[in-house]
Amino acid sequence: MPDRLFARTYHQQTKYHPSSIGAGHQIDWENPPEQFKEYAGAPKFDLRPYLPNAETETWQALPALNDPDGTFSLPQLSKLLFATNGITAVMLQGGQKHYFRAAPSAGALYPTDLYLAVRGHADLPDGIFYYHAREHTLLEVYPRGLGPEGDELFRKLAAACFDDRAVASASVAVIATAVFWRSAWRYGARAYRRCLLDSGHVIGNFDIIAPRLGIACTIVGGFVDSEVAALLAIPEAREGVLGVLPLHDLDDRDDINPGPSARASSSTEPKPEADEILSIHTAGAIRRKDAPAPGAANDDDLLPSDKYAFAPGVKLKPSDEDLNDQIEIAILRRRSTRVFTGEPLKLTELADMLAFAYRPDLRLPPEAGPVYFDKSLLETFVVVNAVEGVAPGVYHFAPNFMELLTVRKGPVRREIYHLALGQELARDAGAVLIHTADLDAATRRYGSRAYRYLHLDAGHLGQRLNVAAIRINAGVSGIGGFFDDEVNELLNIPEKELCVYITCLGRAAN
Ligand SMILES: Cc1cc2nc3c(=O)[nH]c(=O)nc-3n(C[C@H](O)[C@H](O)[C@H](O)COP(=O)(O)O)c2cc1C
Repeated sequence: MPDRLFARTYHQQTKYHPSSIGAGHQIDWENPPEQFKEYAGAPKFDLRPYLPNAETETWQALPALNDPDGTFSLPQLSKLLFATNGITAVMLQGGQKHYFRAAPSAGALYPTDLYLAVRGHADLPDGIFYYHAREHTLLEVYPRGLGPEGDELFRKLAAACFDDRAVASASVAVIATAVFWRSAWRYGARAYRRCLLDSGHVIGNFDIIAPRLGIACTIVGGFVDSEVAALLAIPEAREGVLGVLPLHDLDDRDDINPGPSARASSSTEPKPEADEILSIHTAGAIRRKDAPAPGAANDDDLLPSDKYAFAPGVKLKPSDEDLNDQIEIAILRRRSTRVFTGEPLKLTELADMLAFAYRPDLRLPPEAGPVYFDKSLLETFVVVNAVEGVAPGVYHFAPNFMELLTVRKGPVRREIYHLALGQELARDAGAVLIHTADLDAATRRYGSRAYRYLHLDAGHLGQRLNVAAIRINAGVSGIGGFFDDEVNELLNIPEKELCVYITCLGRAAN
């Protein structure tokens, strides 16, 4: 089977259908996954002393508080890691503590882990560190003197990333992974989709918070998987590397000159004994010996964002408010809405949230511009249940024109409620965003690795929508469970196009 067909196979295998939902995967309640990795006896670097643990002056004035010791001082790294994947709430349930993070996660299972590669730091030794979110601590992955260090470490990391210039010139790089089992415990084979979406949300937080800390953050999706995994000393069968994020001083942004964010996978045959998750992850891997040449993406496959010729609808005009102002407070306050009231959103609110996610260049300083793997692969539809001044119906969002194009008019609350597995969130939201993609075109460009980019970018967009919603006091929740084919029916899109993710926006009851 050609490599790129594995993405289609996995997608078909993990569709939800009304006739079979609930059958299949059994949750082992006696054996829940650990959300944190432990490195017994590893030297620790406590980041808590630098943590503003309430919405204090410190967070309010965060940009002014950039540490005089430099962009990557421990106080800055502490804030960066806290605001991207740190514990922002603890709930006691039946005597058990449940930890909630700065980024949402399907089922609150938090498969995403973060590692740092560091060289030449004033307070940290050279090496690889695991970010332990519950302890808000950096743990040394290798015993001293045994791991790759300093220039050698960054040479290896950059080589694994095809000599990406931003990686080669960095002194700090974040590496994001997903521990598949944490999510698969509950969601079975479909968990890979959620691992990617969750990790995309975390990446979205980097994109939002880094510039506020004076940090320029780029994202590299093209790397030799096994080489980065070996540097992190992680077991590839359980944990996959999803992105390398080199960090630089924002003032040096013009000199960074990164390589391409996304590259195609090798022609990889998954191991026959692998389960669905390992199959799709391996099919999306890049191997050293048959890595595609740079620029292998075929420009003929470019997806014009005006491929849909829908009728004109509604122009979206964002307000004058700068959502980036104090956006860090929104990250810390963010929680997923559990119940929407069903009341309408204002049109400017919808415009503000969409602009923040898709067109921040209209509203933000250029250095805050998000870096996606390849956003041109994604399309967005907006189901309007209740937005002032917009007839209920289905619209296609054209970000370049900030316009909702009419697909069809008429209420669809009943359909959207049903296809979201009967979740009232979708029925009672003011607007439901559906992120879709042409899987055939995406895999022609990137092989099965496209499946990663699509879901990571959709999660990233979802996080920008989440944070924008909280920033303007609206409610928001992601939806990762839906009847796939019924989404296509609602949107009237062909089977080769898939629903990647759903984000609900509305008035929160809580
Ligand atoms: C990819 C993804 C899918 C999600 N799917 C759903 C969903 O289908 N229904 C729901 O109620 N919440 C969903 N959520 C929200 C999570 O339940 C929520 O993030 C988690 O419980 C943690 O709570 P918090 O977001 O308030 O921090 C989803 C979140 C993500 C990131």
